[in-house]
Amino acid sequence: MDKKIITIGASTSKNSINKVLAEYTGGLINGAEIINVDLNNYEMPLFSLDVEAENGFPKGAIQLNELLDEANGFIISFAEHNGAYSAAFKNAFDWLSRIDGKVWRDKPMLLLATSPGERGGQTVLDIALGRFPFNGGKIVGSMSFPSFFENFKNGEIVNEPLKSDLLERVKDFQQAI
Ligand SMILES: Cc1cc2nc3c(=O)[nH]c(=O)nc-3n(C[C@H](O)[C@H](O)[C@H](O)COP(=O)(O)O)c2cc1C
Repeated sequence: MDKKIITIGASTSKNSINKVLAEYTGGLINGAEIINVDLNNYEMPLFSLDVEAENGFPKGAIQLNELLDEANGFIISFAEHNGAYSAAFKNAFDWLSRIDGKVWRDKPMLLLATSPGERGGQTVLDIALGRFPFNGGKIVGSMSFPSFFENFKNGEIVNEPLKSDLLERVKDFQQAI
């Protein structure tokens, strides 16, 4: 049976460039079923211990957690908001970590970030690189993709060095899953 790879654009924007990059990267994987997660489809209230004590885990978090169980690996691209995770991703991450602290199940992960700016979300990427190993993240590669709108046009990477960098990361990820 095909491996299942989950891509997550860690943003709830309709036109999220991180969704575009995560899904594009998923499309470079051979012989795997790619499941593109839209966080908008997994509604959850703002995390609080009190909400958890009163109502338990929200359905959206339970469903997303089940999907993580089924996957063989993850490709996540982070939106950077004020140098950190988008609120929607942080909220989902907090809920998921309450259900199972090993959020990423020791499964291979390729971590990406992009933004319209020259640092391409490197700051939020560094946060995830530092944290995810404590939540069962087996990170096999990472890359920030700078100046998205200059380097990605009409559904394709138009900067050759960036494209070959990404293909290298995909190759490593493919070998790990
Ligand atoms: C509240 C807010 C804060 C932002 N902070 C940053 C930032 O710290 N660094 C950065 O490169 N871009 C920042 N941006 C611009 C985002 O990178 C840009 O909106 C990008 O499209 C977000 O990714 P998305 O399209 O996947 O949602 C910010 C945008 C918003 C709305």
